[in-house]
Amino acid sequence: MGRVLYKLSPNYVFTPKVKVFKLWCGGSFGVGVKNIYLPQKVKIAKIKKLSYDVKLFRFKKPRGVFPVNKNKLAFIPGQFVLAGLWGYGEAPFGIASSPYENSFIDIVVRNTGGRVTSALHNLKKGAEITLRGPYGNGFPLSFLEGKDVIMISGGCGIPPIASLTEYIIKNRKKFGNVYLLYGVRTPKDILIKGKMKEWEKYIRIILTIDKPYPGWKGCTGFVCNLIQPAIKVSPGNAVAAMCGPGPMTDATEKVLRPLGIADRRIFVSEERRMQCGVGKCQHCTTGEKYVCLDGPVFNYDEIDKNWD
Ligand SMILES: Cc1cc2nc3c(=O)[nH]c(=O)nc-3n(C[C@H](O)[C@H](O)[C@H](O)COP(=O)(O)OP(=O)(O)OC[C@H]3O[C@@H](n4cnc5c(N)ncnc54)[C@H](O)[C@@H]3O)c2cc1C
Ligand code: FES
Repeated sequence: MGRVLYKLSPNYVFTPKVKVFKLWCGGSFGVGVKNIYLPQKVKIAKIKKLSYDVKLFRFKKPRGVFPVNKNKLAFIPGQFVLAGLWGYGEAPFGIASSPYENSFIDIVVRNTGGRVTSALHNLKKGAEITLRGPYGNGFPLSFLEGKDVIMISGGCGIPPIASLTEYIIKNRKKFGNVYLLYGVRTPKDILIKGKMKEWEKYIRIILTIDKPYPGWKGCTGFVCNLIQPAIKVSPGNAVAAMCGPGPMTDATEKVLRPLGIADRRIFVSEERRMQCGVGKCQHCTTGEKYVCLDGPVFNYDEIDKNWD
């Protein structure tokens, strides 16, 4: 790896208060320096409409991008990527596909009406965008193993939970009782229904919608209200993994704690406005934590100490 040396050359003095410093570059500039912002070009291999405002985008992984680690994982469930479109900018999205998947990655994008998400929703199969990542910490997989796991998701918070579910199912014997509780506003907002049908063979899945809806025979009410009647776990050996709107995850934590599930065993994937994604710009900081680097997955002990 080349090493680049910089040295100040004689200063140019414009006024007594203004100086221009010219940097002398002692090596061939850029040689051996890894550009942490350099994205990869990827082609959209598939687009699937999941609801009126949510689409799944599948990208074929270029050779050498997202290489698998020693545990055969291409990323850790809970990690995210920055997807970019020329002229529109970049935005962070949780990875929704299986971490064992070697040929593609999926993201699930809700169109907020903002620049990047609406531009993404206008693209067609075959279009090229950029991806950076995977970034962030992801869920603490080895800590979750050997325990009962309650996964809780709301609305468009399903991508990291979907990826974690794929991991758990692939390693099913390493986990105790596993639940996925998923709450949405109406039946039209349920995402990745097909996947849930497959997962039902391995874990218990309970869906709920906010209020009664014509033709809906399942649970109604907020997802946190499902925990007491439906869940059977050993509190001392249970963990929770959540992703969804802040009010949902906060209300759920208040139900989990009295069951004996300590805050340090309740994990939540948090969202913050981001720019660099790699701990440089400070757009995502809260307390002493960088959501892009220390997170996006935090336990509630950390949230209590750092959240503003
Ligand atoms: C780690 C992480 C993972 C995420 N995963 C997903 C995902 O899997 N699927 C998905 O659809 N979205 C996800 N998001 C949110 C997504 O990044 C934003 O919706 C996106 O950045 C909006 O970009 P935009 O240019 O379209 O909107 P902008 O033009 O930037 O803003 C449009 C609207 O969206 C709001 N907004 C923008 N960014 C955020 C944010 N980070 N959190 C909350 N509100 C925001 C703005 O306040 C504004 O009201 C994730 C965010 C983070 C930080
Ligand atoms: S997004 Fe830049 S420091 Fe986190």
